[in-house]
Amino acid sequence: MLAKIKETTEFIQKKINFTPEFGIILGTGLGGLVKEIEIIHQIKYQDIPNFPVSTVEGHQGNLIFGKIEGRNIVAMQGRFHFYEGYSMQEITLPIRVLKFLGIKYLFVSNASGGMNPDFEVGDLMIINDHINLFGTNPLIGKNIDELGPRFPDMSEAYDRKLIELALQAAKELGVNVKQGVYAGVSGPTFETPAEYKYIRAIGADAVGMSTVPEVIVARHMNLTCFALSVITDSGVPGQIIEITHTDVQEIAGKAEPQMAAIIKKMLNSL
Ligand code: HPA
Repeated sequence: MLAKIKETTEFIQKKINFTPEFGIILGTGLGGLVKEIEIIHQIKYQDIPNFPVSTVEGHQGNLIFGKIEGRNIVAMQGRFHFYEGYSMQEITLPIRVLKFLGIKYLFVSNASGGMNPDFEVGDLMIINDHINLFGTNPLIGKNIDELGPRFPDMSEAYDRKLIELALQAAKELGVNVKQGVYAGVSGPTFETPAEYKYIRAIGADAVGMSTVPEVIVARHMNLTCFALSVITDSGVPGQIIEITHTDVQEIAGKAEPQMAAIIKKMLNSL
């Protein structure tokens, strides 16, 4: 795996002369942030050795290097999901590469179903912790000590200072944000009402099909993480209605400007 990470990093470094400080995964809900990037370089995933190719509608595949608020960033326009059939190591390889390219921070966005009865569809939730319900872990296998420790600490997976900064940014923008625990599941099925109830009972506020593998790998490499979720549907008993991927994208799209504004403000004050 290390050889692949190095090969991919070297391929990118040969093409570009740029050191990013922030990695941003433009998941569902953050696609609009692309408009805020002063783009310097852009590489298609399909042209990058060892990169998987996104198979999900609404997830494009570009690695974008540039500036937001004067900060050097690299954005993943499109992410990989375990349900696409890739291994945990494959979906998180890009995070390894971003670290090798120089990032210190990882910002992530996603869409999720909200089980907390105080949440409404369309709300933004700052992720303050997670529960891994994938039934597997991207760090399973021989540990590569060059990447990180065998038993990484997860006591503060989501950086408290960044959460404070996000709360401050939201306040200044007049955007209402919630905070909560995100449960990561494999999907691709949305949850049954019994599953939403179960996931709520074990302590989660929202559930989605991404982010957890990426944050585990990022924490393994000691990257400082921040994640924002848009609640696109309700998992609250009595409020559960039939949903589709299109509904999820539509609701997430509406929250995009607010999400982008928060990230922009955070980058400005970091
Ligand atoms: N469950 C899982 N993933 C999701 C959901 C959900 O309700 N909404 C958006 N992504």
